[in-house]
This record gives sequence, structure tokens and C-alpha cells, in this order.
Amino acid sequence: MAGTLGILGICLLFSGVRVTSSAISVTSPAKEYKIARGDNVTIPCKFAVQPVGDSVQISWTAVADVSGDPAIKILTFNSLGSTKVQTKYKGRATLLQDVLTGKADLQLLRVTSADTRVYECGVENLSNEEDGGSATAKLIVLVAPSPPICKIEGKAEYYQDVKLTCVSEEGTPTPTYKWQRYDTNNILQPNPPKATDGVCVCVCV
Ligand SMILES: *[C@@H]1O[C@H](CO)[C@@H](O)[C@H](O)[C@H]1NC(C)=O
Ligand SMILES: *[C@@H]1O[C@H](CO)[C@@H](O)[C@H](O)[C@H]1NC(C)=O
Repeated sequence: MAGTLGILGICLLFSGVRVTSSAISVTSPAKEYKIARGDNVTIPCKFAVQPVGDSVQISWTAVADVSGDPAIKILTFNSLGSTKVQTKYKGRATLLQDVLTGKADLQLLRVTSADTRVYECGVENLSNEEDGGSATAKLIVLVAPSPPICKIEGKAEYYQDVKLTCVSEEGTPTPTYKWQRYDTNNILQPNPPKATDGVCVCVCV
């Protein structure tokens, strides 16, 4: 009798373990990916391998610009047979999937700075609404700074203060600048400037 109870105990324990292990675990190998503007990028996503025959839905979304706005839908794949790519991403977004090995990578072609955002990969078990998971990764599209636009505020005269400002219209990450001053012989001068003639140059660092 004691022996039968022992076996029953083991069975209960085993079924308990089975329930928890059926939850789909979704992972993203890195938290951040950097890519140059115009290039193609693949954001990897992995999920726990499905037992053959299980149906899953994979979806990729992106976080909206304004916090609190609904997520931007990119694409949805259903292992029963259909893939839907949102109009905005048609021809540019592809799901590189393999349900048997748990691969659900998102490929984005010709990235622009508007693609700099957080992406989420979600996988749902179609046979069990409550079984699903998601992972996020940030994509940063690098943009070389455009030539800086320099402005002078105030009159460039003796005894007048002038303020030189320098900005680039674009650049990710935001570029920082330093000022260099050359005298009339084109020799780099130490900062701060002591003489009043010469050329000031703003350089991105
Ligand atoms: C999906 O759900 C079904 C029904 O609950 C379950 O039998 C199966 O193990 C689940 N698959 C995964 C990988 O969670
Ligand atoms: C991006 O992918 C497209 C389509 O596969 C290809 O034609 C293009 O050459 C790729 N661009 C780069 C920069 O690799």
C-alpha cells in the first residue's frame, strides 16, 4: 500500500513539472542592435522548441513614438499557414521562421532613422491561449552627422561678445562638437582664444 502511494506521489510531482515546462519561453540574444542607415538588419528571436504538431502564432510589434500609444504592428505569422505583413512594412519586413527549431527572426530591409525603436517578438501557443511569451530588443539606426551649420550671434567687432553655435540637422547618436581656433597663419591655437582674428572651426567629435 505504501508503495502505491509513493508511485502516485511521483506521478503528481511529474505532472506538476510538465505544466510549468509547457509555457513558451521567448528570448532575444542581445538587448540592443546597432546598424548603419540603409543597411539590412536581422533581429533574432528564439522560443522553446514546440512538440511536433503544436500550432503557434508569432508576431512582431514595435513600441510607438509616443509612450502610451498602441504598439506598431509589423507582422503576424500563424503556423497553420498564413503570414500577414502590415502595409507600412510590405516589401521591407520578413519573418525568418522555423517553428521546429524555435526561430522567429525579423528581417528589416533598408533601415531608416524612424526604425530606431524597441521591438517585441511574441509567440503564442494556439492550442492554449494562456501559453505564450515575448522578448524585446532595441534597434539603433546609426546616422552619420550632417555637416554642422554654424551661426554667429552678436556683432563680430572689437569689445563685443559673440556667441558661435554649431548644430547638425541629423546624426544618431547625437553628435557633440568642439571648437578649434586657427590664427591667420592657419596654426591651431589653444583654447580659450586670446587673439581676436583668425578662423574658428567647429568639428564633430
Ligand atoms: C500548447 O498547448 C497545448 C494545450 O494546452 C499543450 O498540450 C502543449 O504542450 C503546449 N505547447 C507548448 C510548447 O507550450
Ligand atoms: C538588402 O537586401 C536586399 C534584398 O535582399 C538586397 O538587394 C540589398 O543589396 C541588401 N542591401 C545591403 C546593404 O546589404
